Amino acid sequence: MSELNLVLLGPPGSGKGTQGERLQEDLRLPYYATGDILRAAVREGTDLGNEAKEYMGRGDLVPDEVMVGLIAERVASAEAADGFILDGFPRTIAQAEALDAKLSELGRGLTAVLLIKVPDDEVIRRLSGRRICPNGHVFHMDFDPPKEEGVCDICGERLEIRDDDKPEVVRHRLGTYHDKTEPLVAYYEERGVLDRVDGQRAPDEVATRINALLATLRREEEL
Ligand code: AP5
Repeated sequence: MSELNLVLLGPPGSGKGTQGERLQEDLRLPYYATGDILRAAVREGTDLGNEAKEYMGRGDLVPDEVMVGLIAERVASAEAADGFILDGFPRTIAQAEALDAKLSELGRGLTAVLLIKVPDDEVIRRLSGRRICPNGHVFHMDFDPPKEEGVCDICGERLEIRDDDKPEVVRHRLGTYHDKTEPLVAYYEERGVLDRVDGQRAPDEVATRINALLATLRREEEL
């Protein structure tokens, strides 16, 4: 396949980060997770972090113009010439239109948008047990526990609870998803690039399904 330009779409806690990490390893493509980029900026106290902090704490979206600038420069970078994996972007129709415009300016388009489907009650269950490290590696106390409690298996950093995983913020994030992000399902369906994945299965099974979908896309391109 000449290039692989992927978007991971789905509600909070659907497993975008979990699958994104695996895909990044398997495909050796740059992985741009907007939540991770913003959390790093908040930790470093940059202008971006200071602007984003309040929106994130409430479970609201950071303004489109900020997010579009962040991603446009990354998809146009040399490291993304063979493709990229986007997680958490786009999240609004305006962001999706800006991404389309940027890609078409580069003579490119999206290969696939993978919608990871998980119902709201499962989201709430998952986010109450999530732990992350400062480098964005994700665990779950019951479903995907680290080998040593409180320590990241991958980089050895301390695991933390995300500020926006408090139950009232999770409910607000879900509302924001249904209101602002879910319309992207129809947007990408109309453009023929949407593939649905059942996110309620175990992480390994979700990964197997995604790999099967990507293999089909490769075969179709070869025909
Ligand atoms: P972001 O960090 O992108 O949050 P999100 O989209 O709400 O998604 P999450 O990171 O909560 O969940 P996930 O789908 O990655 O699930 P995970 O793999 O961790 O964004 C945070 C904030 O930044 C936003 O609210 C907004 O303010 C701002 N922002 C970001 N992008 C923006 C944009 N484009 N525009 C404007 N604002 C933006 O899994 C969750 C848990 O479940 C983990 O514990 C995991 O171990 C477990 N798990 C995963 N898969 C499974 C499975 N199959 N079975 C059981 N457990 C599983």
